[in-house]
Amino acid sequence: MEKYDRDTWVEVNLDDIRSNIHTFRKHIPEKTQIMAVVKADGYGHGSIEVAREALAAGATSLAVAFLDEGIVLRKAGITCPILILGYTPIRAVQKAYEWNISCTVFQTNWIKKAEKIVNKKQGKKKVNKHGDKPEDKHGNQPDQDKKEESIQGRKRLSVHINIDTGMGRLGVRTKKVLLSVVKGIYKSDVFQWDGVYTHFATADSQDITYLNHQFERFQSYLEFLREKGHKLPAIHCCNTAATMTHPEWGFHFIRLGIGMYGLYPSVYLKSLNILNLKPALQVKTRVSNVKFMQKSFGIGYGVTYSASPGEQIITLPIGYGDGFSRLLSNKGSVLLQGQRFSVVGRVTMDQCMVSVDKIKAKVGDEVVIYGRSGNEEITLEEVAEQIGTINYEVACMLNYRIPRVYIKQHKVVSVRNLLESINPKPRKHTEK
Ligand SMILES: Cc1ncc(COP(=O)(O)O)c(C=O)c1O
Repeated sequence: MEKYDRDTWVEVNLDDIRSNIHTFRKHIPEKTQIMAVVKADGYGHGSIEVAREALAAGATSLAVAFLDEGIVLRKAGITCPILILGYTPIRAVQKAYEWNISCTVFQTNWIKKAEKIVNKKQGKKKVNKHGDKPEDKHGNQPDQDKKEESIQGRKRLSVHINIDTGMGRLGVRTKKVLLSVVKGIYKSDVFQWDGVYTHFATADSQDITYLNHQFERFQSYLEFLREKGHKLPAIHCCNTAATMTHPEWGFHFIRLGIGMYGLYPSVYLKSLNILNLKPALQVKTRVSNVKFMQKSFGIGYGVTYSASPGEQIITLPIGYGDGFSRLLSNKGSVLLQGQRFSVVGRVTMDQCMVSVDKIKAKVGDEVVIYGRSGNEEITLEEVAEQIGTINYEVACMLNYRIPRVYIKQHKVVSVRNLLESINPKPRKHTEK
């Protein structure tokens, strides 16, 4: 049985993910490791499959935005370090601890509350000398999946301190708070201090003044901690953009997001030709209807386009309910048989229309929404420009309704259809 029945799908080429990781690997110092950023479902590509490929290609840890995203990876059997880049609510701390997922920390109060929570729960749950759950009378671990057991019940909650050097989002903003967070971590036996990092706000732009300013600030915070006698854990500050322009700032890790997917953080950075990245994602669909207009005829809601006599209009089963923006109404293009054609009328929730000339379309013909066909290409950057956003958002907009098809060496190796997993089992039809 097919894993999906609709005629619209996202193709993710895992060989491209691998190649992009290798490209960054060669670009950064040998001692610097790669933390693959797979938040937002791997920027729309599918977090589990991308994470597995990235780890196989040389990444050594992963980053997500919040705990649930990390647990998805753990449940898929991924055991490497995973860092939550966002804020973890206090109520979720125990779970982060149990799943051995690292939290980003920056508030003294959070440290105090988290310590209490873990201590309280840990007190109730007797641990053996290895920090695991109690063994049964035969000396075996409890009847849980071994994989799960290997990541649960560790003694300490791993934390990375975020320093806000100019992003204005999360992170400690004074040396005083930094010191109190560090002290809070040290004086408790609940935490393990695994990292200290910052995030750059303008690393993708041509003007490097602010970036340099942030980097200097970060260094002064690190120096301050050293002067106070603290041995620093893993240090990291580079996203894709900073890695491209300053590989020497890699320290222990780079946090590699958009570049791993073969996309550039900005048009400016792409124009520098520093690295040759391969976009891993394409969106495809199939023609569901073909009409030749006998007379002028309105197209779509609001009739914002009127087809002329003789015009060929095709219908495609993709719309804004999939993440194909309504802002592409009368603006976007698609590719059919290596040629570019315009979206006409308004993009609707599940469908859109395209005017096709010169060639004859048939129901079932493959159409490229984003990606390559012949010598033509529709890039996420082009679409981003049309709808006034960035390639990051165009990728993340592709939602759970579109199945992800994974390709390796030109073959489909797996398919993920989230609709399949939320569909209830069909009820048996019983006659009255
Ligand atoms: C804290 C942090 N680090 C790293 C990244 C990865 O950035 P990029 O996708 O530009 O490489 C992000 C992405 O938003 C982030 O929020």
